[in-house]
Amino acid sequence: MKTLVIENLHVNVDDKEILKGVNLTIKENETVALLGPNGHGKSTLLAAIMGNPRYKVTEGKILLDGKDLLAMSVDERAKSGIFLAMQYPSEVPGVVNADFLKAAINSCREKPIGLYEFYRQLESASKTMNISMEMASRFLNEGFSGGEKKRNEILQLLLLKPDFAMLDEIDSGLDVDALNCVSEAINNMKNQSTISFLVVSHYARLYQLIRPTRTAIMINGRIVIEGGPELISRIDKDGYEWLKYELGIEIKKEDHVDMRTTSIGSCAVKETIKK
Ligand SMILES: Nc1ncnc2c1ncn2[C@@H]1O[C@H](COP(=O)(O)OP(=O)(O)O)[C@@H](O)[C@H]1O
Ligand SMILES: [Mg+2]
Repeated sequence: MKTLVIENLHVNVDDKEILKGVNLTIKENETVALLGPNGHGKSTLLAAIMGNPRYKVTEGKILLDGKDLLAMSVDERAKSGIFLAMQYPSEVPGVVNADFLKAAINSCREKPIGLYEFYRQLESASKTMNISMEMASRFLNEGFSGGEKKRNEILQLLLLKPDFAMLDEIDSGLDVDALNCVSEAINNMKNQSTISFLVVSHYARLYQLIRPTRTAIMINGRIVIEGGPELISRIDKDGYEWLKYELGIEIKKEDHVDMRTTSIGSCAVKETIKK
């Protein structure tokens, strides 16, 4: 990937407008930190870039090296090198983690990966992430702790080697050792390739470890200010209130809708209850 350009992006979720004209450009080799109060649209932006069908783009463009990303299906986007480590990874009982990982790798290759080569890569990535090989034979995310789910997302990142990776609160639920492990994996990828990252986190600690090149702040469904890493320190110290006065904007309070209620499993349950 050379450049991902987001222009005047408007996105509705369940007929409610969440993103209200997002503009953001991410170039090759950049690590962009995306911050903002809870409920202001960060995960929605990531879901819209990845192509979650629940997130309806009503206006605007997303261009990947000039190509219309919005015209592509989710798997075409993944094959074009886009990756999302989710804030709340879904549990998928019945799908063995290793089978899932192998299928994901194969879908991005012309010739299927050999079994020996797959296990060699899986073993190496599991070691980097401090994950036991036993986890590969369990069902995807089922019964994984919060931290294990997050480490398993980074395991996928290491195996799939995308050009553009979005990490949604990857540090939530991680202890210090796991956080170091995740940051080290991210930094190794940055050093060994031209990968770009869009990283959502509330914590300066992660950003200290992975050193973003740029910072963007999302409030009320728009990027209201962009800057360097100094913006992260300011927010860590002072919160978001100062932006009200500096930019003359209102900051709406969170609606208290928990994204976990919208995982694959519970969506199905919700639909059934509605009927
Ligand atoms: N799948 C969904 N169903 C219902 N509401 C949603 C869904 N996804 C996002 N929203 C709503 O969109 C707003 C922005 O949410 P989100 O993008 O998760 O914010 P952030 O990641 O910045 O905390 C919130 O009001 C949230 O309730
Ligand atoms: Mg979120």
